[in-house]
Amino acid sequence: MDKFIIEGGQRLHGRIKISGAKNGSLALMPATLLAPGCYHITNTPNLRDVWTMSRLLGSMGVFCELNGNDLFIDSNNIKSFEAPYEQVKKMRASFYVLGPLVARFGYAKVSLPGGCAWGPRPVDLHLKGMEKLGAEISLEAGYVIAKADRLKGTKFHLDISSVGATGNLLMAASLAKGTTVITNAATEPEITALARMLVKMGAKIDGIGTNCLTIDGVEELKPVNEETIPDRIEAATYLIATAMTKGKIEIENTNPYHLTSVLEKLESSGCKIEVTSDRIELEMDQDPEPIDIVTSIYPGFPTDLQAQWIAYMLTAKGVSRVTETIYQDRFKHVPELQRLGAQIDLADNVAIVKGGNRLSGATVMSSDLRASASLILAALIAEGTTEVLRVYHIDRGYEAIEKKLQSLGSSIKRVPTDIF
Ligand code: EPZ
Repeated sequence: MDKFIIEGGQRLHGRIKISGAKNGSLALMPATLLAPGCYHITNTPNLRDVWTMSRLLGSMGVFCELNGNDLFIDSNNIKSFEAPYEQVKKMRASFYVLGPLVARFGYAKVSLPGGCAWGPRPVDLHLKGMEKLGAEISLEAGYVIAKADRLKGTKFHLDISSVGATGNLLMAASLAKGTTVITNAATEPEITALARMLVKMGAKIDGIGTNCLTIDGVEELKPVNEETIPDRIEAATYLIATAMTKGKIEIENTNPYHLTSVLEKLESSGCKIEVTSDRIELEMDQDPEPIDIVTSIYPGFPTDLQAQWIAYMLTAKGVSRVTETIYQDRFKHVPELQRLGAQIDLADNVAIVKGGNRLSGATVMSSDLRASASLILAALIAEGTTEVLRVYHIDRGYEAIEKKLQSLGSSIKRVPTDIF
């Protein structure tokens, strides 16, 4: 178990390159189950979650090798159609293998994902959609068993624009017999990128980028090479970190179009922002205005930036409201931020953040990926030393974060520790 030791007070300044999107890779990798062959997925981030997905696919007989940011996959020798609890409990995205396995092999045995640090995360929409596609679904000892001779096209409305359910059903429908229409589909860039990869593989998909996807199933698909899109959450995390420290940053290898809602909020708070097609420059020379946010589905303000925004609003000159609408109780970071001296009140799904109070370094505990990010951000502005424990949570979704922050002038170091 590693921890980070952070000395607060440094202004971030400089240039960094954004890595490939964690949630992009986690969608593209299961798609390789749909067609036997060799795939080369570039710009793959070197992250724990990618290793976890690689091990899961490996347990099915899929060869995965990450060489730097080049991911090589060979799915010619799939032998198992099961995703065991030991793997799925580590990462909910493992559930993405359900759709491809049933679509290609007619069978899948996938462990139900457990809850996570912020409450239950059901998969009912995934299962309802698979049933509508003609799969026979049963639950046995915590596993979903799905069977189908051949999936059949259908019409399915997602009551919630679930990213994972959209991805699972999109992959399943690609090999179904007939046409499938998914309405209220997620439009997150990672889903659009998955759809584009499936089309390169031979799938017939209309409405890509919209919340109505029409898929004409085909008999078979073929392997392709693909590039992972940049990680929009990583990019925004560094923009917020820079704004908090009144710094200046240029981020490369990013897509500003994926961050319009966040860039607007940052500008409203007082940041000066310039963008080109693949770079964003941000400069901040004042305390930010208090800016309320309400998380929502894409292209709204992402829930995966809610914790980071709370950390940012701790430096604001006033009170702001941060409302979480996607998850119940995604505020595990709040008690830890309060240990640093943050003044935050929680009322149901709203955090009322009182900005302008001095934060003092302390030892804090990561609880999940984005909560950990908010603790690191707060530590950058806290007086004195902060220790952030259990940074394996961070290593799930931020490639080389301490190296990137060090290159921007932050005093952060990774220290192995035996604290569990
Ligand atoms: C994806 O998770 C992301 N993970 C999450 O990012 C992200 O927070 C989330 O989408 C929302 O944007 C990956 O892409 C790997 P959902 P996912 O299904 O697909 C409810 C990160 O930090 N729901 O869109 O699991 C669910 O409980 C991670 O990178 C059902 O009720 O999210 C939640 O309230 C965290 N039934 C809401 O929908 C279902 O069958 C959105 O969940 C499925 C979901």
